[in-house]
This record gives sequence, C-alpha cells and structure tokens, in this order.
Amino acid sequence: MAVERRPHLGDATRGRILYGGDYNPEQWPEETWPEDVRLMRAAGVNSVTVGVFSWARLEPRPGERDFGWLDRLMDLMHDNGIGVVLATPTSSPPPWMGHLHPDTLPVTEDGRTEYWGGRQHFSHSSATYRRYAAAISEDLAARYGGHPALTMWHINNEYCTYDWSDEAAARFRTWLRQRYGSLDALNSAWGTAFWSQGYGDWAEIHTPRHAHYMKNPSQVLDFKRFTSDMLLECYLAERDIVRRATPNTPVTSNFMPLWVGQDAWRWAEEEDVVSVDLYPDPRDPLGAQQGALVQDMTRSQARGPWMLMEQAAGPVNWRGVNHPKPRGLNRLWSLQAVARGADAVCYFQWRQSRQGAEKFHSGMVSHAGEEGRTYQEVKQLGAELAAISAQVTGRHTGHDIAVLHDWHAWWAGAQDGRLSHEVDYPDVLKAWHRALWEAHLTTDFAHPEHDLTAYKVVVVPQLYALTDAAIDNLLGYVRQGGTLVSGFLTGVADEDDRVHPGGMDARLRDLFGIRTLHEWWPLDAGEYAECDDFRGTLWSEEIDKSEDATTEASYKGGELDGLPAVLRRGRAWYLSTLPEPGALRELLAGIATGAGVRPVLDGLPDQVEAVRRGDLLFLLHHGREPVTVRVPGTHHDLLTGTAVTNQLTLERYGVAVLRP
Ligand code: GAL
Repeated sequence: MAVERRPHLGDATRGRILYGGDYNPEQWPEETWPEDVRLMRAAGVNSVTVGVFSWARLEPRPGERDFGWLDRLMDLMHDNGIGVVLATPTSSPPPWMGHLHPDTLPVTEDGRTEYWGGRQHFSHSSATYRRYAAAISEDLAARYGGHPALTMWHINNEYCTYDWSDEAAARFRTWLRQRYGSLDALNSAWGTAFWSQGYGDWAEIHTPRHAHYMKNPSQVLDFKRFTSDMLLECYLAERDIVRRATPNTPVTSNFMPLWVGQDAWRWAEEEDVVSVDLYPDPRDPLGAQQGALVQDMTRSQARGPWMLMEQAAGPVNWRGVNHPKPRGLNRLWSLQAVARGADAVCYFQWRQSRQGAEKFHSGMVSHAGEEGRTYQEVKQLGAELAAISAQVTGRHTGHDIAVLHDWHAWWAGAQDGRLSHEVDYPDVLKAWHRALWEAHLTTDFAHPEHDLTAYKVVVVPQLYALTDAAIDNLLGYVRQGGTLVSGFLTGVADEDDRVHPGGMDARLRDLFGIRTLHEWWPLDAGEYAECDDFRGTLWSEEIDKSEDATTEASYKGGELDGLPAVLRRGRAWYLSTLPEPGALRELLAGIATGAGVRPVLDGLPDQVEAVRRGDLLFLLHHGREPVTVRVPGTHHDLLTGTAVTNQLTLERYGVAVLRP
C-alpha cells in the first residue's frame, strides 16, 4: 500500500536552519524594501513570513484583489535567495467585513461585540467569515502556489478566539448532537439534574453565557472542546485549500506557548510543521526554564524538528513593564531552541514598526537601525546558525522521561467550583518541569493516551480528568516495568467531569497504594504542610495507605500528622502535596536515578544547561559569571571551530555546541 508522504520542515529548510521572521512590507514605502533585503542578506536571513496581517491590503473592498505589491515582494525575495512563508491573512479581517457583515464579529460571554480596530475580531463560527477566508486563501494559493519563493504556508495566526454568539450557539448544538446523539446522553454527561438544568429541547442549549452564579462545569468543559474544534475547522478549511494547490508545500499554524484554548496535541496531528511563538521575560529568573518547557512540548508535538516561528530580538510591549534582552541573551535563547530541536529560528518581526499598537515591540532591526546592538547581534547569530546548520538540521532526539499533559484535563480541572483557586494547572506543570530541568534531566512531553513504552520514567504533574483509555495506558505502562510518578488531583474525574467514587479512579488508587482518600486539605497561599524533610505547598491529603504501599515521606504535625505525603507502591509514586522546588527536584532526580536515568552530564554547574541533539552536545550557560564545565573526552566546538578536551569555560550567556 502506498504511504502518503506528507511534506515536512525539511522540505523548507533543505539543510539550513531557517532564520528570519515576520516581514510586514506593507507598513513601509516600497523604497525601503531594497534596504531591507540588503540588511537581511547581511544577517543571513533566509526566510520571511509575509502577509500575516495583510488582508485589508490584499482585499481592499469585498471581492477585489490587490496582489501587485505581493507579486513584486515575492519576486524580490526570490531574486535574493530568501524563502517566503506565506500566510493566509485571516486573523485580522478588513474593516469592511465587520461593517457589512456584523455576523462575522465575535461576541463575548456577556454579550459584547468585539469590533475591528484591533485584531482577531473574527467569529470562528461565522459562515460569512469562513466564506471570505476560503476565498482569499484560494486566490493566494492559486497565485503563489507555483512561485519559487514559496517555502511554506502559515495559516491564520495564533488561533485564540472565543465566541458566545448566536451563530456559535447553533454550531455548539450541532457539535453536541454529534458528541452525545441524544438529549438524554447530554443531560447525563452534564449532570443537569443538579440545579434544575435538564434540557428538553436542543434549542434550549446555549454557549455558556454570563450567568448569575457558577455555571455547569461540564457545559463549560464542552464549550472549551468545541472552541478548539471550531478553530481547528477554520484551520483545516484553509489548510486543505492550500494543500490542494501545493501538495508538496508544508503547512503550519503557529501555537502560543501552553495556550489554554487549543488542544495542541490534536492540532499538531494536522500540521506538517509544528511551530510556536515564544516570549519568555528576559527579567524572569526562570525565563530559560519556561522556554525549555515550551520547546520540549513543541518538539514532542512535532515528534521531530519544529519551528520557532516568533520570538523577540529585544523587548515585547505587552507586559506591564517590558525589558530589553541584555547582550547575548537573544543568541543564548535562540541556540537553546536549536538544542531542543528547532530547525527554524524566527522573530516577530523583521523591522520594528513606527506606527500601530506594536511600535514599541522590538524587531530584528530596531528603531536604532543597522548600527543598533539588536541588529548587530541578530547578524552575528545569523552567521553562527549558518555555520552549524548542516550538522544540526533534521536531527531528533527523544528523551527518557515524559511529562504528561492534556488540555482536556486542564479544562476540566479549571472550574469555578474547585476546592482551591491557588492550584493553577500551568503553574503545577511548570513546577514539575522545572524540578527536572534543574536536575539536568531533559524531558519530552506526552499525551496520557500516547505510547509511553519508550520512557523509563513518566511523570504526571496533574491530570484531574482521565479517559479510561488513559488509565489503562498508565496501568499498562507500570505493569511493563515503567516508573510512574503522579501528583495530586489526578484521576479524580471521568471525561465528562463525574467525580469517581472514592475521590480517584479505583484502579489508580490501587496502583498507588491509596486505600482511602478521606479528605483533600488544600493549603492557602504561603501556607506549608511540614513533611519529614521538606515543606509541601498548595495541597495536602488525608490518606490511608494500603498494606503493600510504602510511605516515603509523611506529614509532620497538624491534622495529617504521620499520614503519607509521598506514597509508593512498587514503581508507582504518588505525591499528595507539591514539595518546594528543591525538594521536588531531589525527589524526582532520585526516582530517575533509581530508574536508570542519568543527567545529561555529571557535575554540571547550576546555571549550565546541557542538551543532546543527535550526537551533538549543547552547553548553554544561563548565568553572567564565567563557569568551567567538565566534559570528559575530546570534542569539537562547532561554534568556535576549536577542540575541547575535558573541560571548557563558558563566558556570560555562553554556548558551546560539541561534536564528539
Ligand atoms: C504574537 C503575534 C505577533 C505579535 C507578537 C508580539 O503573539 O503572533 O503578531 O503580536 O505576538 O509579541
């Protein structure tokens, strides 16, 4: 049987790390284009993403097309050896659309219309919007599908909208009919016996709009699933249009990091290239770890090389206070992405705007221009990426530890009526990843239903709701010899958000050696649960263990005195609290060692991150003082072209890429 070959990132990179960014030439007089090209070439830019926000320019009036400028731009890029990632401009419809067709505008939960004047003011459910989006995509595909500058399609931009409008409600009902088949099934799944919510007619069902008191959590959960699915429908419609015209050109749509609104596992299956936008705060002491988390997740979604679609060369302008990147940090974080599997290092945006909402957001060419430090650093990095490209691109390395993450569990757990609003799913996920990152253990991410057999250790920071298939998967994983470590609030509910009798799925309780889970004891902010040799945060539990389970750490003092804080039954570990960062790091590092997983390198200084990609060893120094790193043996540093024997010194924000 012939296996369909899907295009992938390698078709766009052709052995070169893609380097460049969003380019918005329509914001500039055409006379500046040659200057852009000169600076791009000097900086080693080989890829630009064009057209992301060009809809009003491309379709100035309904059905009209103005492609002349884009024709000239595409030719100019091609003549200069710069590939174009061409976007469908559908994330920011022109003003005429909302004006003529108010039904294309999304409506908030409390009934307010989101108008044009910003961006992303489209209703994913609007048939009119979808019709216009399809038409412009068709025309772009027809016109540029054969253009030699085209390397990839970029659909829309950071799909992230919600819509509670009437049209969305109609689609929601259709979606629910497909999911449940009957109102009886829906009433059962939503538990509508509670508070007199039983539905007798599909027409009574709405998107979960502003209500007097807490909303039905299962309805809200389904609305989140529905929203992700509607956005996906929009993506798929445009993807299929460009795919029909250019079956061999890869298609992507850029994710936001750990964005709540899209089930990115599901989405990634539909993308030829998985891409992400990544903006850690340069002032955040954990910025590098936050970046690593997103990079690990994106690589895992891509199951191979991925694209850093956007990052900032300097400050962003959407935080309360926006700091520039100190000298060397842009290079360090860019190479960190490459270490963790990126084959494309791109920015928002090429040239810093002079007008509009993002004029204080950095560009590769900042307001300071060619002489500015930002451009000078961008240029140096371009040269370095070009030098290592051939040895890096296409290489993929899987790791021994998987962190499980699932959007549906996140959505289900994040409900109004939960026991503690101090427990925030992304924060818990970050805490666990941080513990592993600080222990110099590189991790993949996986979905709870993925095949986990390749991993020696699987950690579950928190999966409040699990499907039966996921539970079977976890049980099978441990049965086959895997080591599983789970945090609290895991396996509490089924996929409709029905709490399991006993407060946790019985098979999981058995797996971890929990005989009775009497009560959850959430902790206030700043409150700690004293345990044998650490302090627990956020949560604690009143648990009786089963006889064959071992208490690895117990609560000390207070109501829970002597009860298990960390419980183990065989290779299954359960943490009923979140140990403080250092303690969680030690615990997980110890469990990893027990399962035969070693840090990437022994004796690494705290601020040095080591990551393997293929046979390359990346060393990334996140500190400002020089450090010496021991690397037994003789290596070749691709960045300096020199030999390294047994040790090397990394200067402030220094990087080495070592080949044996
Ligand atoms: C991204 C977006 C870009 C730009 C950037 C600024 O979310 O895709 O268009 O707004 O942020 O950081």
